[in-house]
Amino acid sequence: MTIGTRRSCDVLIIGSGSAGLRAAIEAHDAGADVLIISKSRKGDPHTVLARGGINAALGTMDPEDNWMVHAVDTLREGEFLADYERVVVLCKNAPDAVNELVNWGARFHREKDGRLTQRFFGAHTYRRTVFYEDWTGQEIIHVLIDQVRLRKIEIVDNVYVTKLIKSDNLSGKREATKITGALGIDFKKKEIVIFECKSLILAAGGYTRVYAVSSSRSFENYGEGMILAYEAGADLVDMEMVQFHPTGMVWPEKALGTLATEAIRGEGGILLNSKGERYMKNYYPERMELGPRDVVARATYNEILDGRGTQHGGVWLDVTHLSRQKIMDRLPTMYEQFKNINGIDISKDKMEVGPTAHYSMGGIVVDIKCRTKIRGLFAVGEVISQIHGANRLGGNSLLDTIVFGKIAGFEAASFAKEEGERHKTEQSLLGLTVSNKKEFGDDEIFIVKDPITFRNEIQEIMNHNAGIIREETRLQNGLKRILELNKEFYSKDNVLKEFKIENEEVVLTLEVKSSLVVSEAIIRSALTRQESRGAHYRSDFPQLDDEKWKVNIYCRAEGKEMILFKESVKEIKGPLLDLVKTYVKAEHHREFE
Ligand code: FUM
Repeated sequence: MTIGTRRSCDVLIIGSGSAGLRAAIEAHDAGADVLIISKSRKGDPHTVLARGGINAALGTMDPEDNWMVHAVDTLREGEFLADYERVVVLCKNAPDAVNELVNWGARFHREKDGRLTQRFFGAHTYRRTVFYEDWTGQEIIHVLIDQVRLRKIEIVDNVYVTKLIKSDNLSGKREATKITGALGIDFKKKEIVIFECKSLILAAGGYTRVYAVSSSRSFENYGEGMILAYEAGADLVDMEMVQFHPTGMVWPEKALGTLATEAIRGEGGILLNSKGERYMKNYYPERMELGPRDVVARATYNEILDGRGTQHGGVWLDVTHLSRQKIMDRLPTMYEQFKNINGIDISKDKMEVGPTAHYSMGGIVVDIKCRTKIRGLFAVGEVISQIHGANRLGGNSLLDTIVFGKIAGFEAASFAKEEGERHKTEQSLLGLTVSNKKEFGDDEIFIVKDPITFRNEIQEIMNHNAGIIREETRLQNGLKRILELNKEFYSKDNVLKEFKIENEEVVLTLEVKSSLVVSEAIIRSALTRQESRGAHYRSDFPQLDDEKWKVNIYCRAEGKEMILFKESVKEIKGPLLDLVKTYVKAEHHREFE
């Protein structure tokens, strides 16, 4: 297989969701020549599924709100596992980030007097979530794509990156290893492409699709960005922290996991079990349906397990008490979604919903400037970690992509400016081959027979063994099977006879390759953390244990081994500390089987 095209730029961005686009705009404005490449179709990244809104303490509805309260809500929801300095950056910059989107044309909802409307989301002290109907992510993508177009930044879509290129691939020297590009398969042109750059930003999304029930579509979020960085030598952290959203669709099969936005509860929707009981009063009476996401998800799961679920294994989400006008004004996509998929008019009938894997709090280790430990490699968005801790506050993910996207873009452009010359990549030095034979090595691109069977089994293992409620035996069984699958995947009997780019199994193979590593990291980290914190619930260790476990758990590649180590979470200092101290811990660590 020969390399087709060679493309060069200063800053290469992998991913065209809101994080990648915002980074591209900033890098361009800082003087860099920017190229965006993405697996997803232009204008259709995972961000378009982000429904309910974006947070900023603007105080338009509740003037008492400010960035410090927002920061404490964020830290508290994350059970104090996040890096507080990043939370400060997130919340302090939120008003400017939202206002910038407004200035670029975002049509966020307004009150009659012109103020931006802010709605409640779970676990927020004040109404803080700005929105466009119930498809805020799509609106933000429209606005950012317009800005990208204005700047003539090129997006090459349908490209799947298989490997990051480092300077030691080129020179054989290990010191001062630096990222110099990426190798990708361009499915439109049907060729392998070398992308050369001075700095690279990974903005390739999360890993919730390693679960059978997920709010991600079948072609996204297998953790590929994380695995590119991990294989290049970056560390991963907090991988056990997977957020389950309480309300995904439960039927029909093809819609399983599809999000029913938290905005439904924010606008007054209530949860009922099959007996018609508003069960959240038994779990979190203080905030009911607007309690922390992990608490509502576990409560919902518990109702279903205890036999109070609906026919399709869910619970009821009910807005029939709201006016039809409010539903059509605030939740029009949800109305359409249930009408088209379930044939239900949500103004008259209840929705059937259950928990769905929704967000990965774990990811690549970066510093506050979005730098990984590899020179020239930056990362941003759901691919990174330590902003949301053990559980993310609803509405903070769109915000994080915009605030840190801007930082990543600026930093990557500055790095590129200082770099001077770009490295030239010789194909012969890449070690790349395409395997059509029965033995193959790490650098090869290959296709396995029947990758869908691998993918489906991994997803079932993860749902069953490392889902909402975890315990030692199931986690151990899950790990054992994932490691066996890993052996089978790389066994010589599994390589397809002939490698052809047209073969749809190329992408599926690569998705399975990264799912295997991500799943191993989730399970090993979940086994290590012998306590319950945020989204990570161990029925054999149901208590939160700050004394032993106020630590982040890291995963690092050492040869073929994954090694784990832990480091203490940074102590909160400065003006936030007093506010944090006033927080009285809510009794939501109810035990589940
Ligand atoms: O339910 C939702 O609309 C999700 C929002 C979020 O995860 O931030």
